[in-house]
Amino acid sequence: MSHFLPEAIQGALPNIIQLIYLIATGFFIVGIKRLGSPATARSGNQLASIGMLIGIVVTLFNQEIVSFGFIIAGVVLGTFIGTFAAKKVQMTAMPEMVAIFNGFGGGASALVAWGEFARVDPALIPVDGLVTTGLSILIGSITFTGSFVAFGKLKGFIGGGRIALPGQNIINLVLTAVALALVGWFTVDPEYMVVFWILFALALLIGILTVLPIGGADMPVVISLLNSYSGIAASMAGFVLGNNLLIISGALVGAAGLILTNVMCKAMNRTLLNVLFGAFGGDDGGGPGDSGDGDKSVQKTFADDVAIQCSYANKVIVVPGYGLAVAQAQHVIKEVAGLLEKKGVTVKYGIHPVAGRMPGHMNVLLAEADVPYDQLYDMDEINPEFKSTDVVLIIGANDVVNPAAKTAPGSPIYGMPILDVEDAKRTIIFKRSLSTGYAGIDNELFYSEKNQMFFGDAKDSLQELAASIKELE
Ligand code: TAP
Repeated sequence: MSHFLPEAIQGALPNIIQLIYLIATGFFIVGIKRLGSPATARSGNQLASIGMLIGIVVTLFNQEIVSFGFIIAGVVLGTFIGTFAAKKVQMTAMPEMVAIFNGFGGGASALVAWGEFARVDPALIPVDGLVTTGLSILIGSITFTGSFVAFGKLKGFIGGGRIALPGQNIINLVLTAVALALVGWFTVDPEYMVVFWILFALALLIGILTVLPIGGADMPVVISLLNSYSGIAASMAGFVLGNNLLIISGALVGAAGLILTNVMCKAMNRTLLNVLFGAFGGDDGGGPGDSGDGDKSVQKTFADDVAIQCSYANKVIVVPGYGLAVAQAQHVIKEVAGLLEKKGVTVKYGIHPVAGRMPGHMNVLLAEADVPYDQLYDMDEINPEFKSTDVVLIIGANDVVNPAAKTAPGSPIYGMPILDVEDAKRTIIFKRSLSTGYAGIDNELFYSEKNQMFFGDAKDSLQELAASIKELE
């Protein structure tokens, strides 16, 4: 495309491209920063997209581009698939979509490195180029197959439990060590293509074997880690191509994915090693048929009673969880909150950092229903407020309010920070049964004297509640 430009500009083009890459990087960094708060997240996303557009357009001015036919076809096809997938995906299926996108990102980086390697005489590639080519193939291919196994586990195509040979962790470590040794061999002797192909095949196998043993319930953490890998693979591909923007954006994704993985592990009181090598919880939480402890009894409640309790309350806190996403009850909880506010009740939302199945899951759902951001409170902010709260409406949340995290050493969630809902005068749990959540453990809160259970699909129950509140007017 650059031959359309005047000669003077053509000469300065490489420097201009680097300068514009720097500007695009600025858009990425400010965009990521703005993703830190629900109030600024939308604009953050838009800024990062603008950065990406700038990056793509400027790269098209690169003199080394031979044909635009494939590029335009790729852009059209990619735009179509991306728009279709983003519009069609259910909020509860978001982790699956992210898994696929990570997989394609890793695969693309591996293919870019392969393409560049195939284009040039291996004897002419400097050592650093060979190291980054090898690492890009290794990490990109692991990300590709690992992400598709994660997708299969989340979708239920592959059994969610631990699928592993005896000593699988040791096997995986040995295979990874062999793969790293192959990267070294490839660097020393790049013309011996057998090493290249074995490295490629082994990396694809390692991706499968490392994700298969991990329980389906841990997939969100694994996907965040694979997201980080896809960034590192892209960064390596950036070194292969000598493209600064790809190096920087890949490093940003790599670092952000790693930080997110760490935040998720901390919020669940798990270590990354425990996620990668230990089995935890059920496949994806218990089903509606599971029952709780047969010896204890729970207090049941119904819409009319909850309507009265909430209408005469001073303060109500809503605690959303995974069940809110399953029931798609975000719009109706907003309606209930609005009806209560009209009666002078203060309504706030308490958001646990790992409520739901993906980072920010509850924030995204509530934003979709236009719940005002200033009503959303993080766990640390809302916890001191439960003492002065009359009613807590717990909508499809389970583990994030389970007192076992504080009282039961030995419980898988012991030590996990939770929302202190027990401090409130009354808790009302909206769920379909006494079944367990993600961690697969019973919840003593169900049997507390202060607690009442409103059984049923959260959306149906909240619709009944809204109708009952209106009848009180
Ligand atoms: P969970 O503990 O998984 O509990 C969700 C509850 O929702 C279930 O007990 C289920 O009970 C109920 N439910 C499902 N469908 C429903 C419907 N249609 N209507 C009403 N209720 C419904 O959820 P949580 O409290 O949000 O905790 C999240 C868990 O996921 C934590 O253990 C966390 O560590 C884990 N996790 C989170 C993330 C991120 S980043 N968010 C990542 C990995 C793991 P019934 O079947 O009885 O209805």
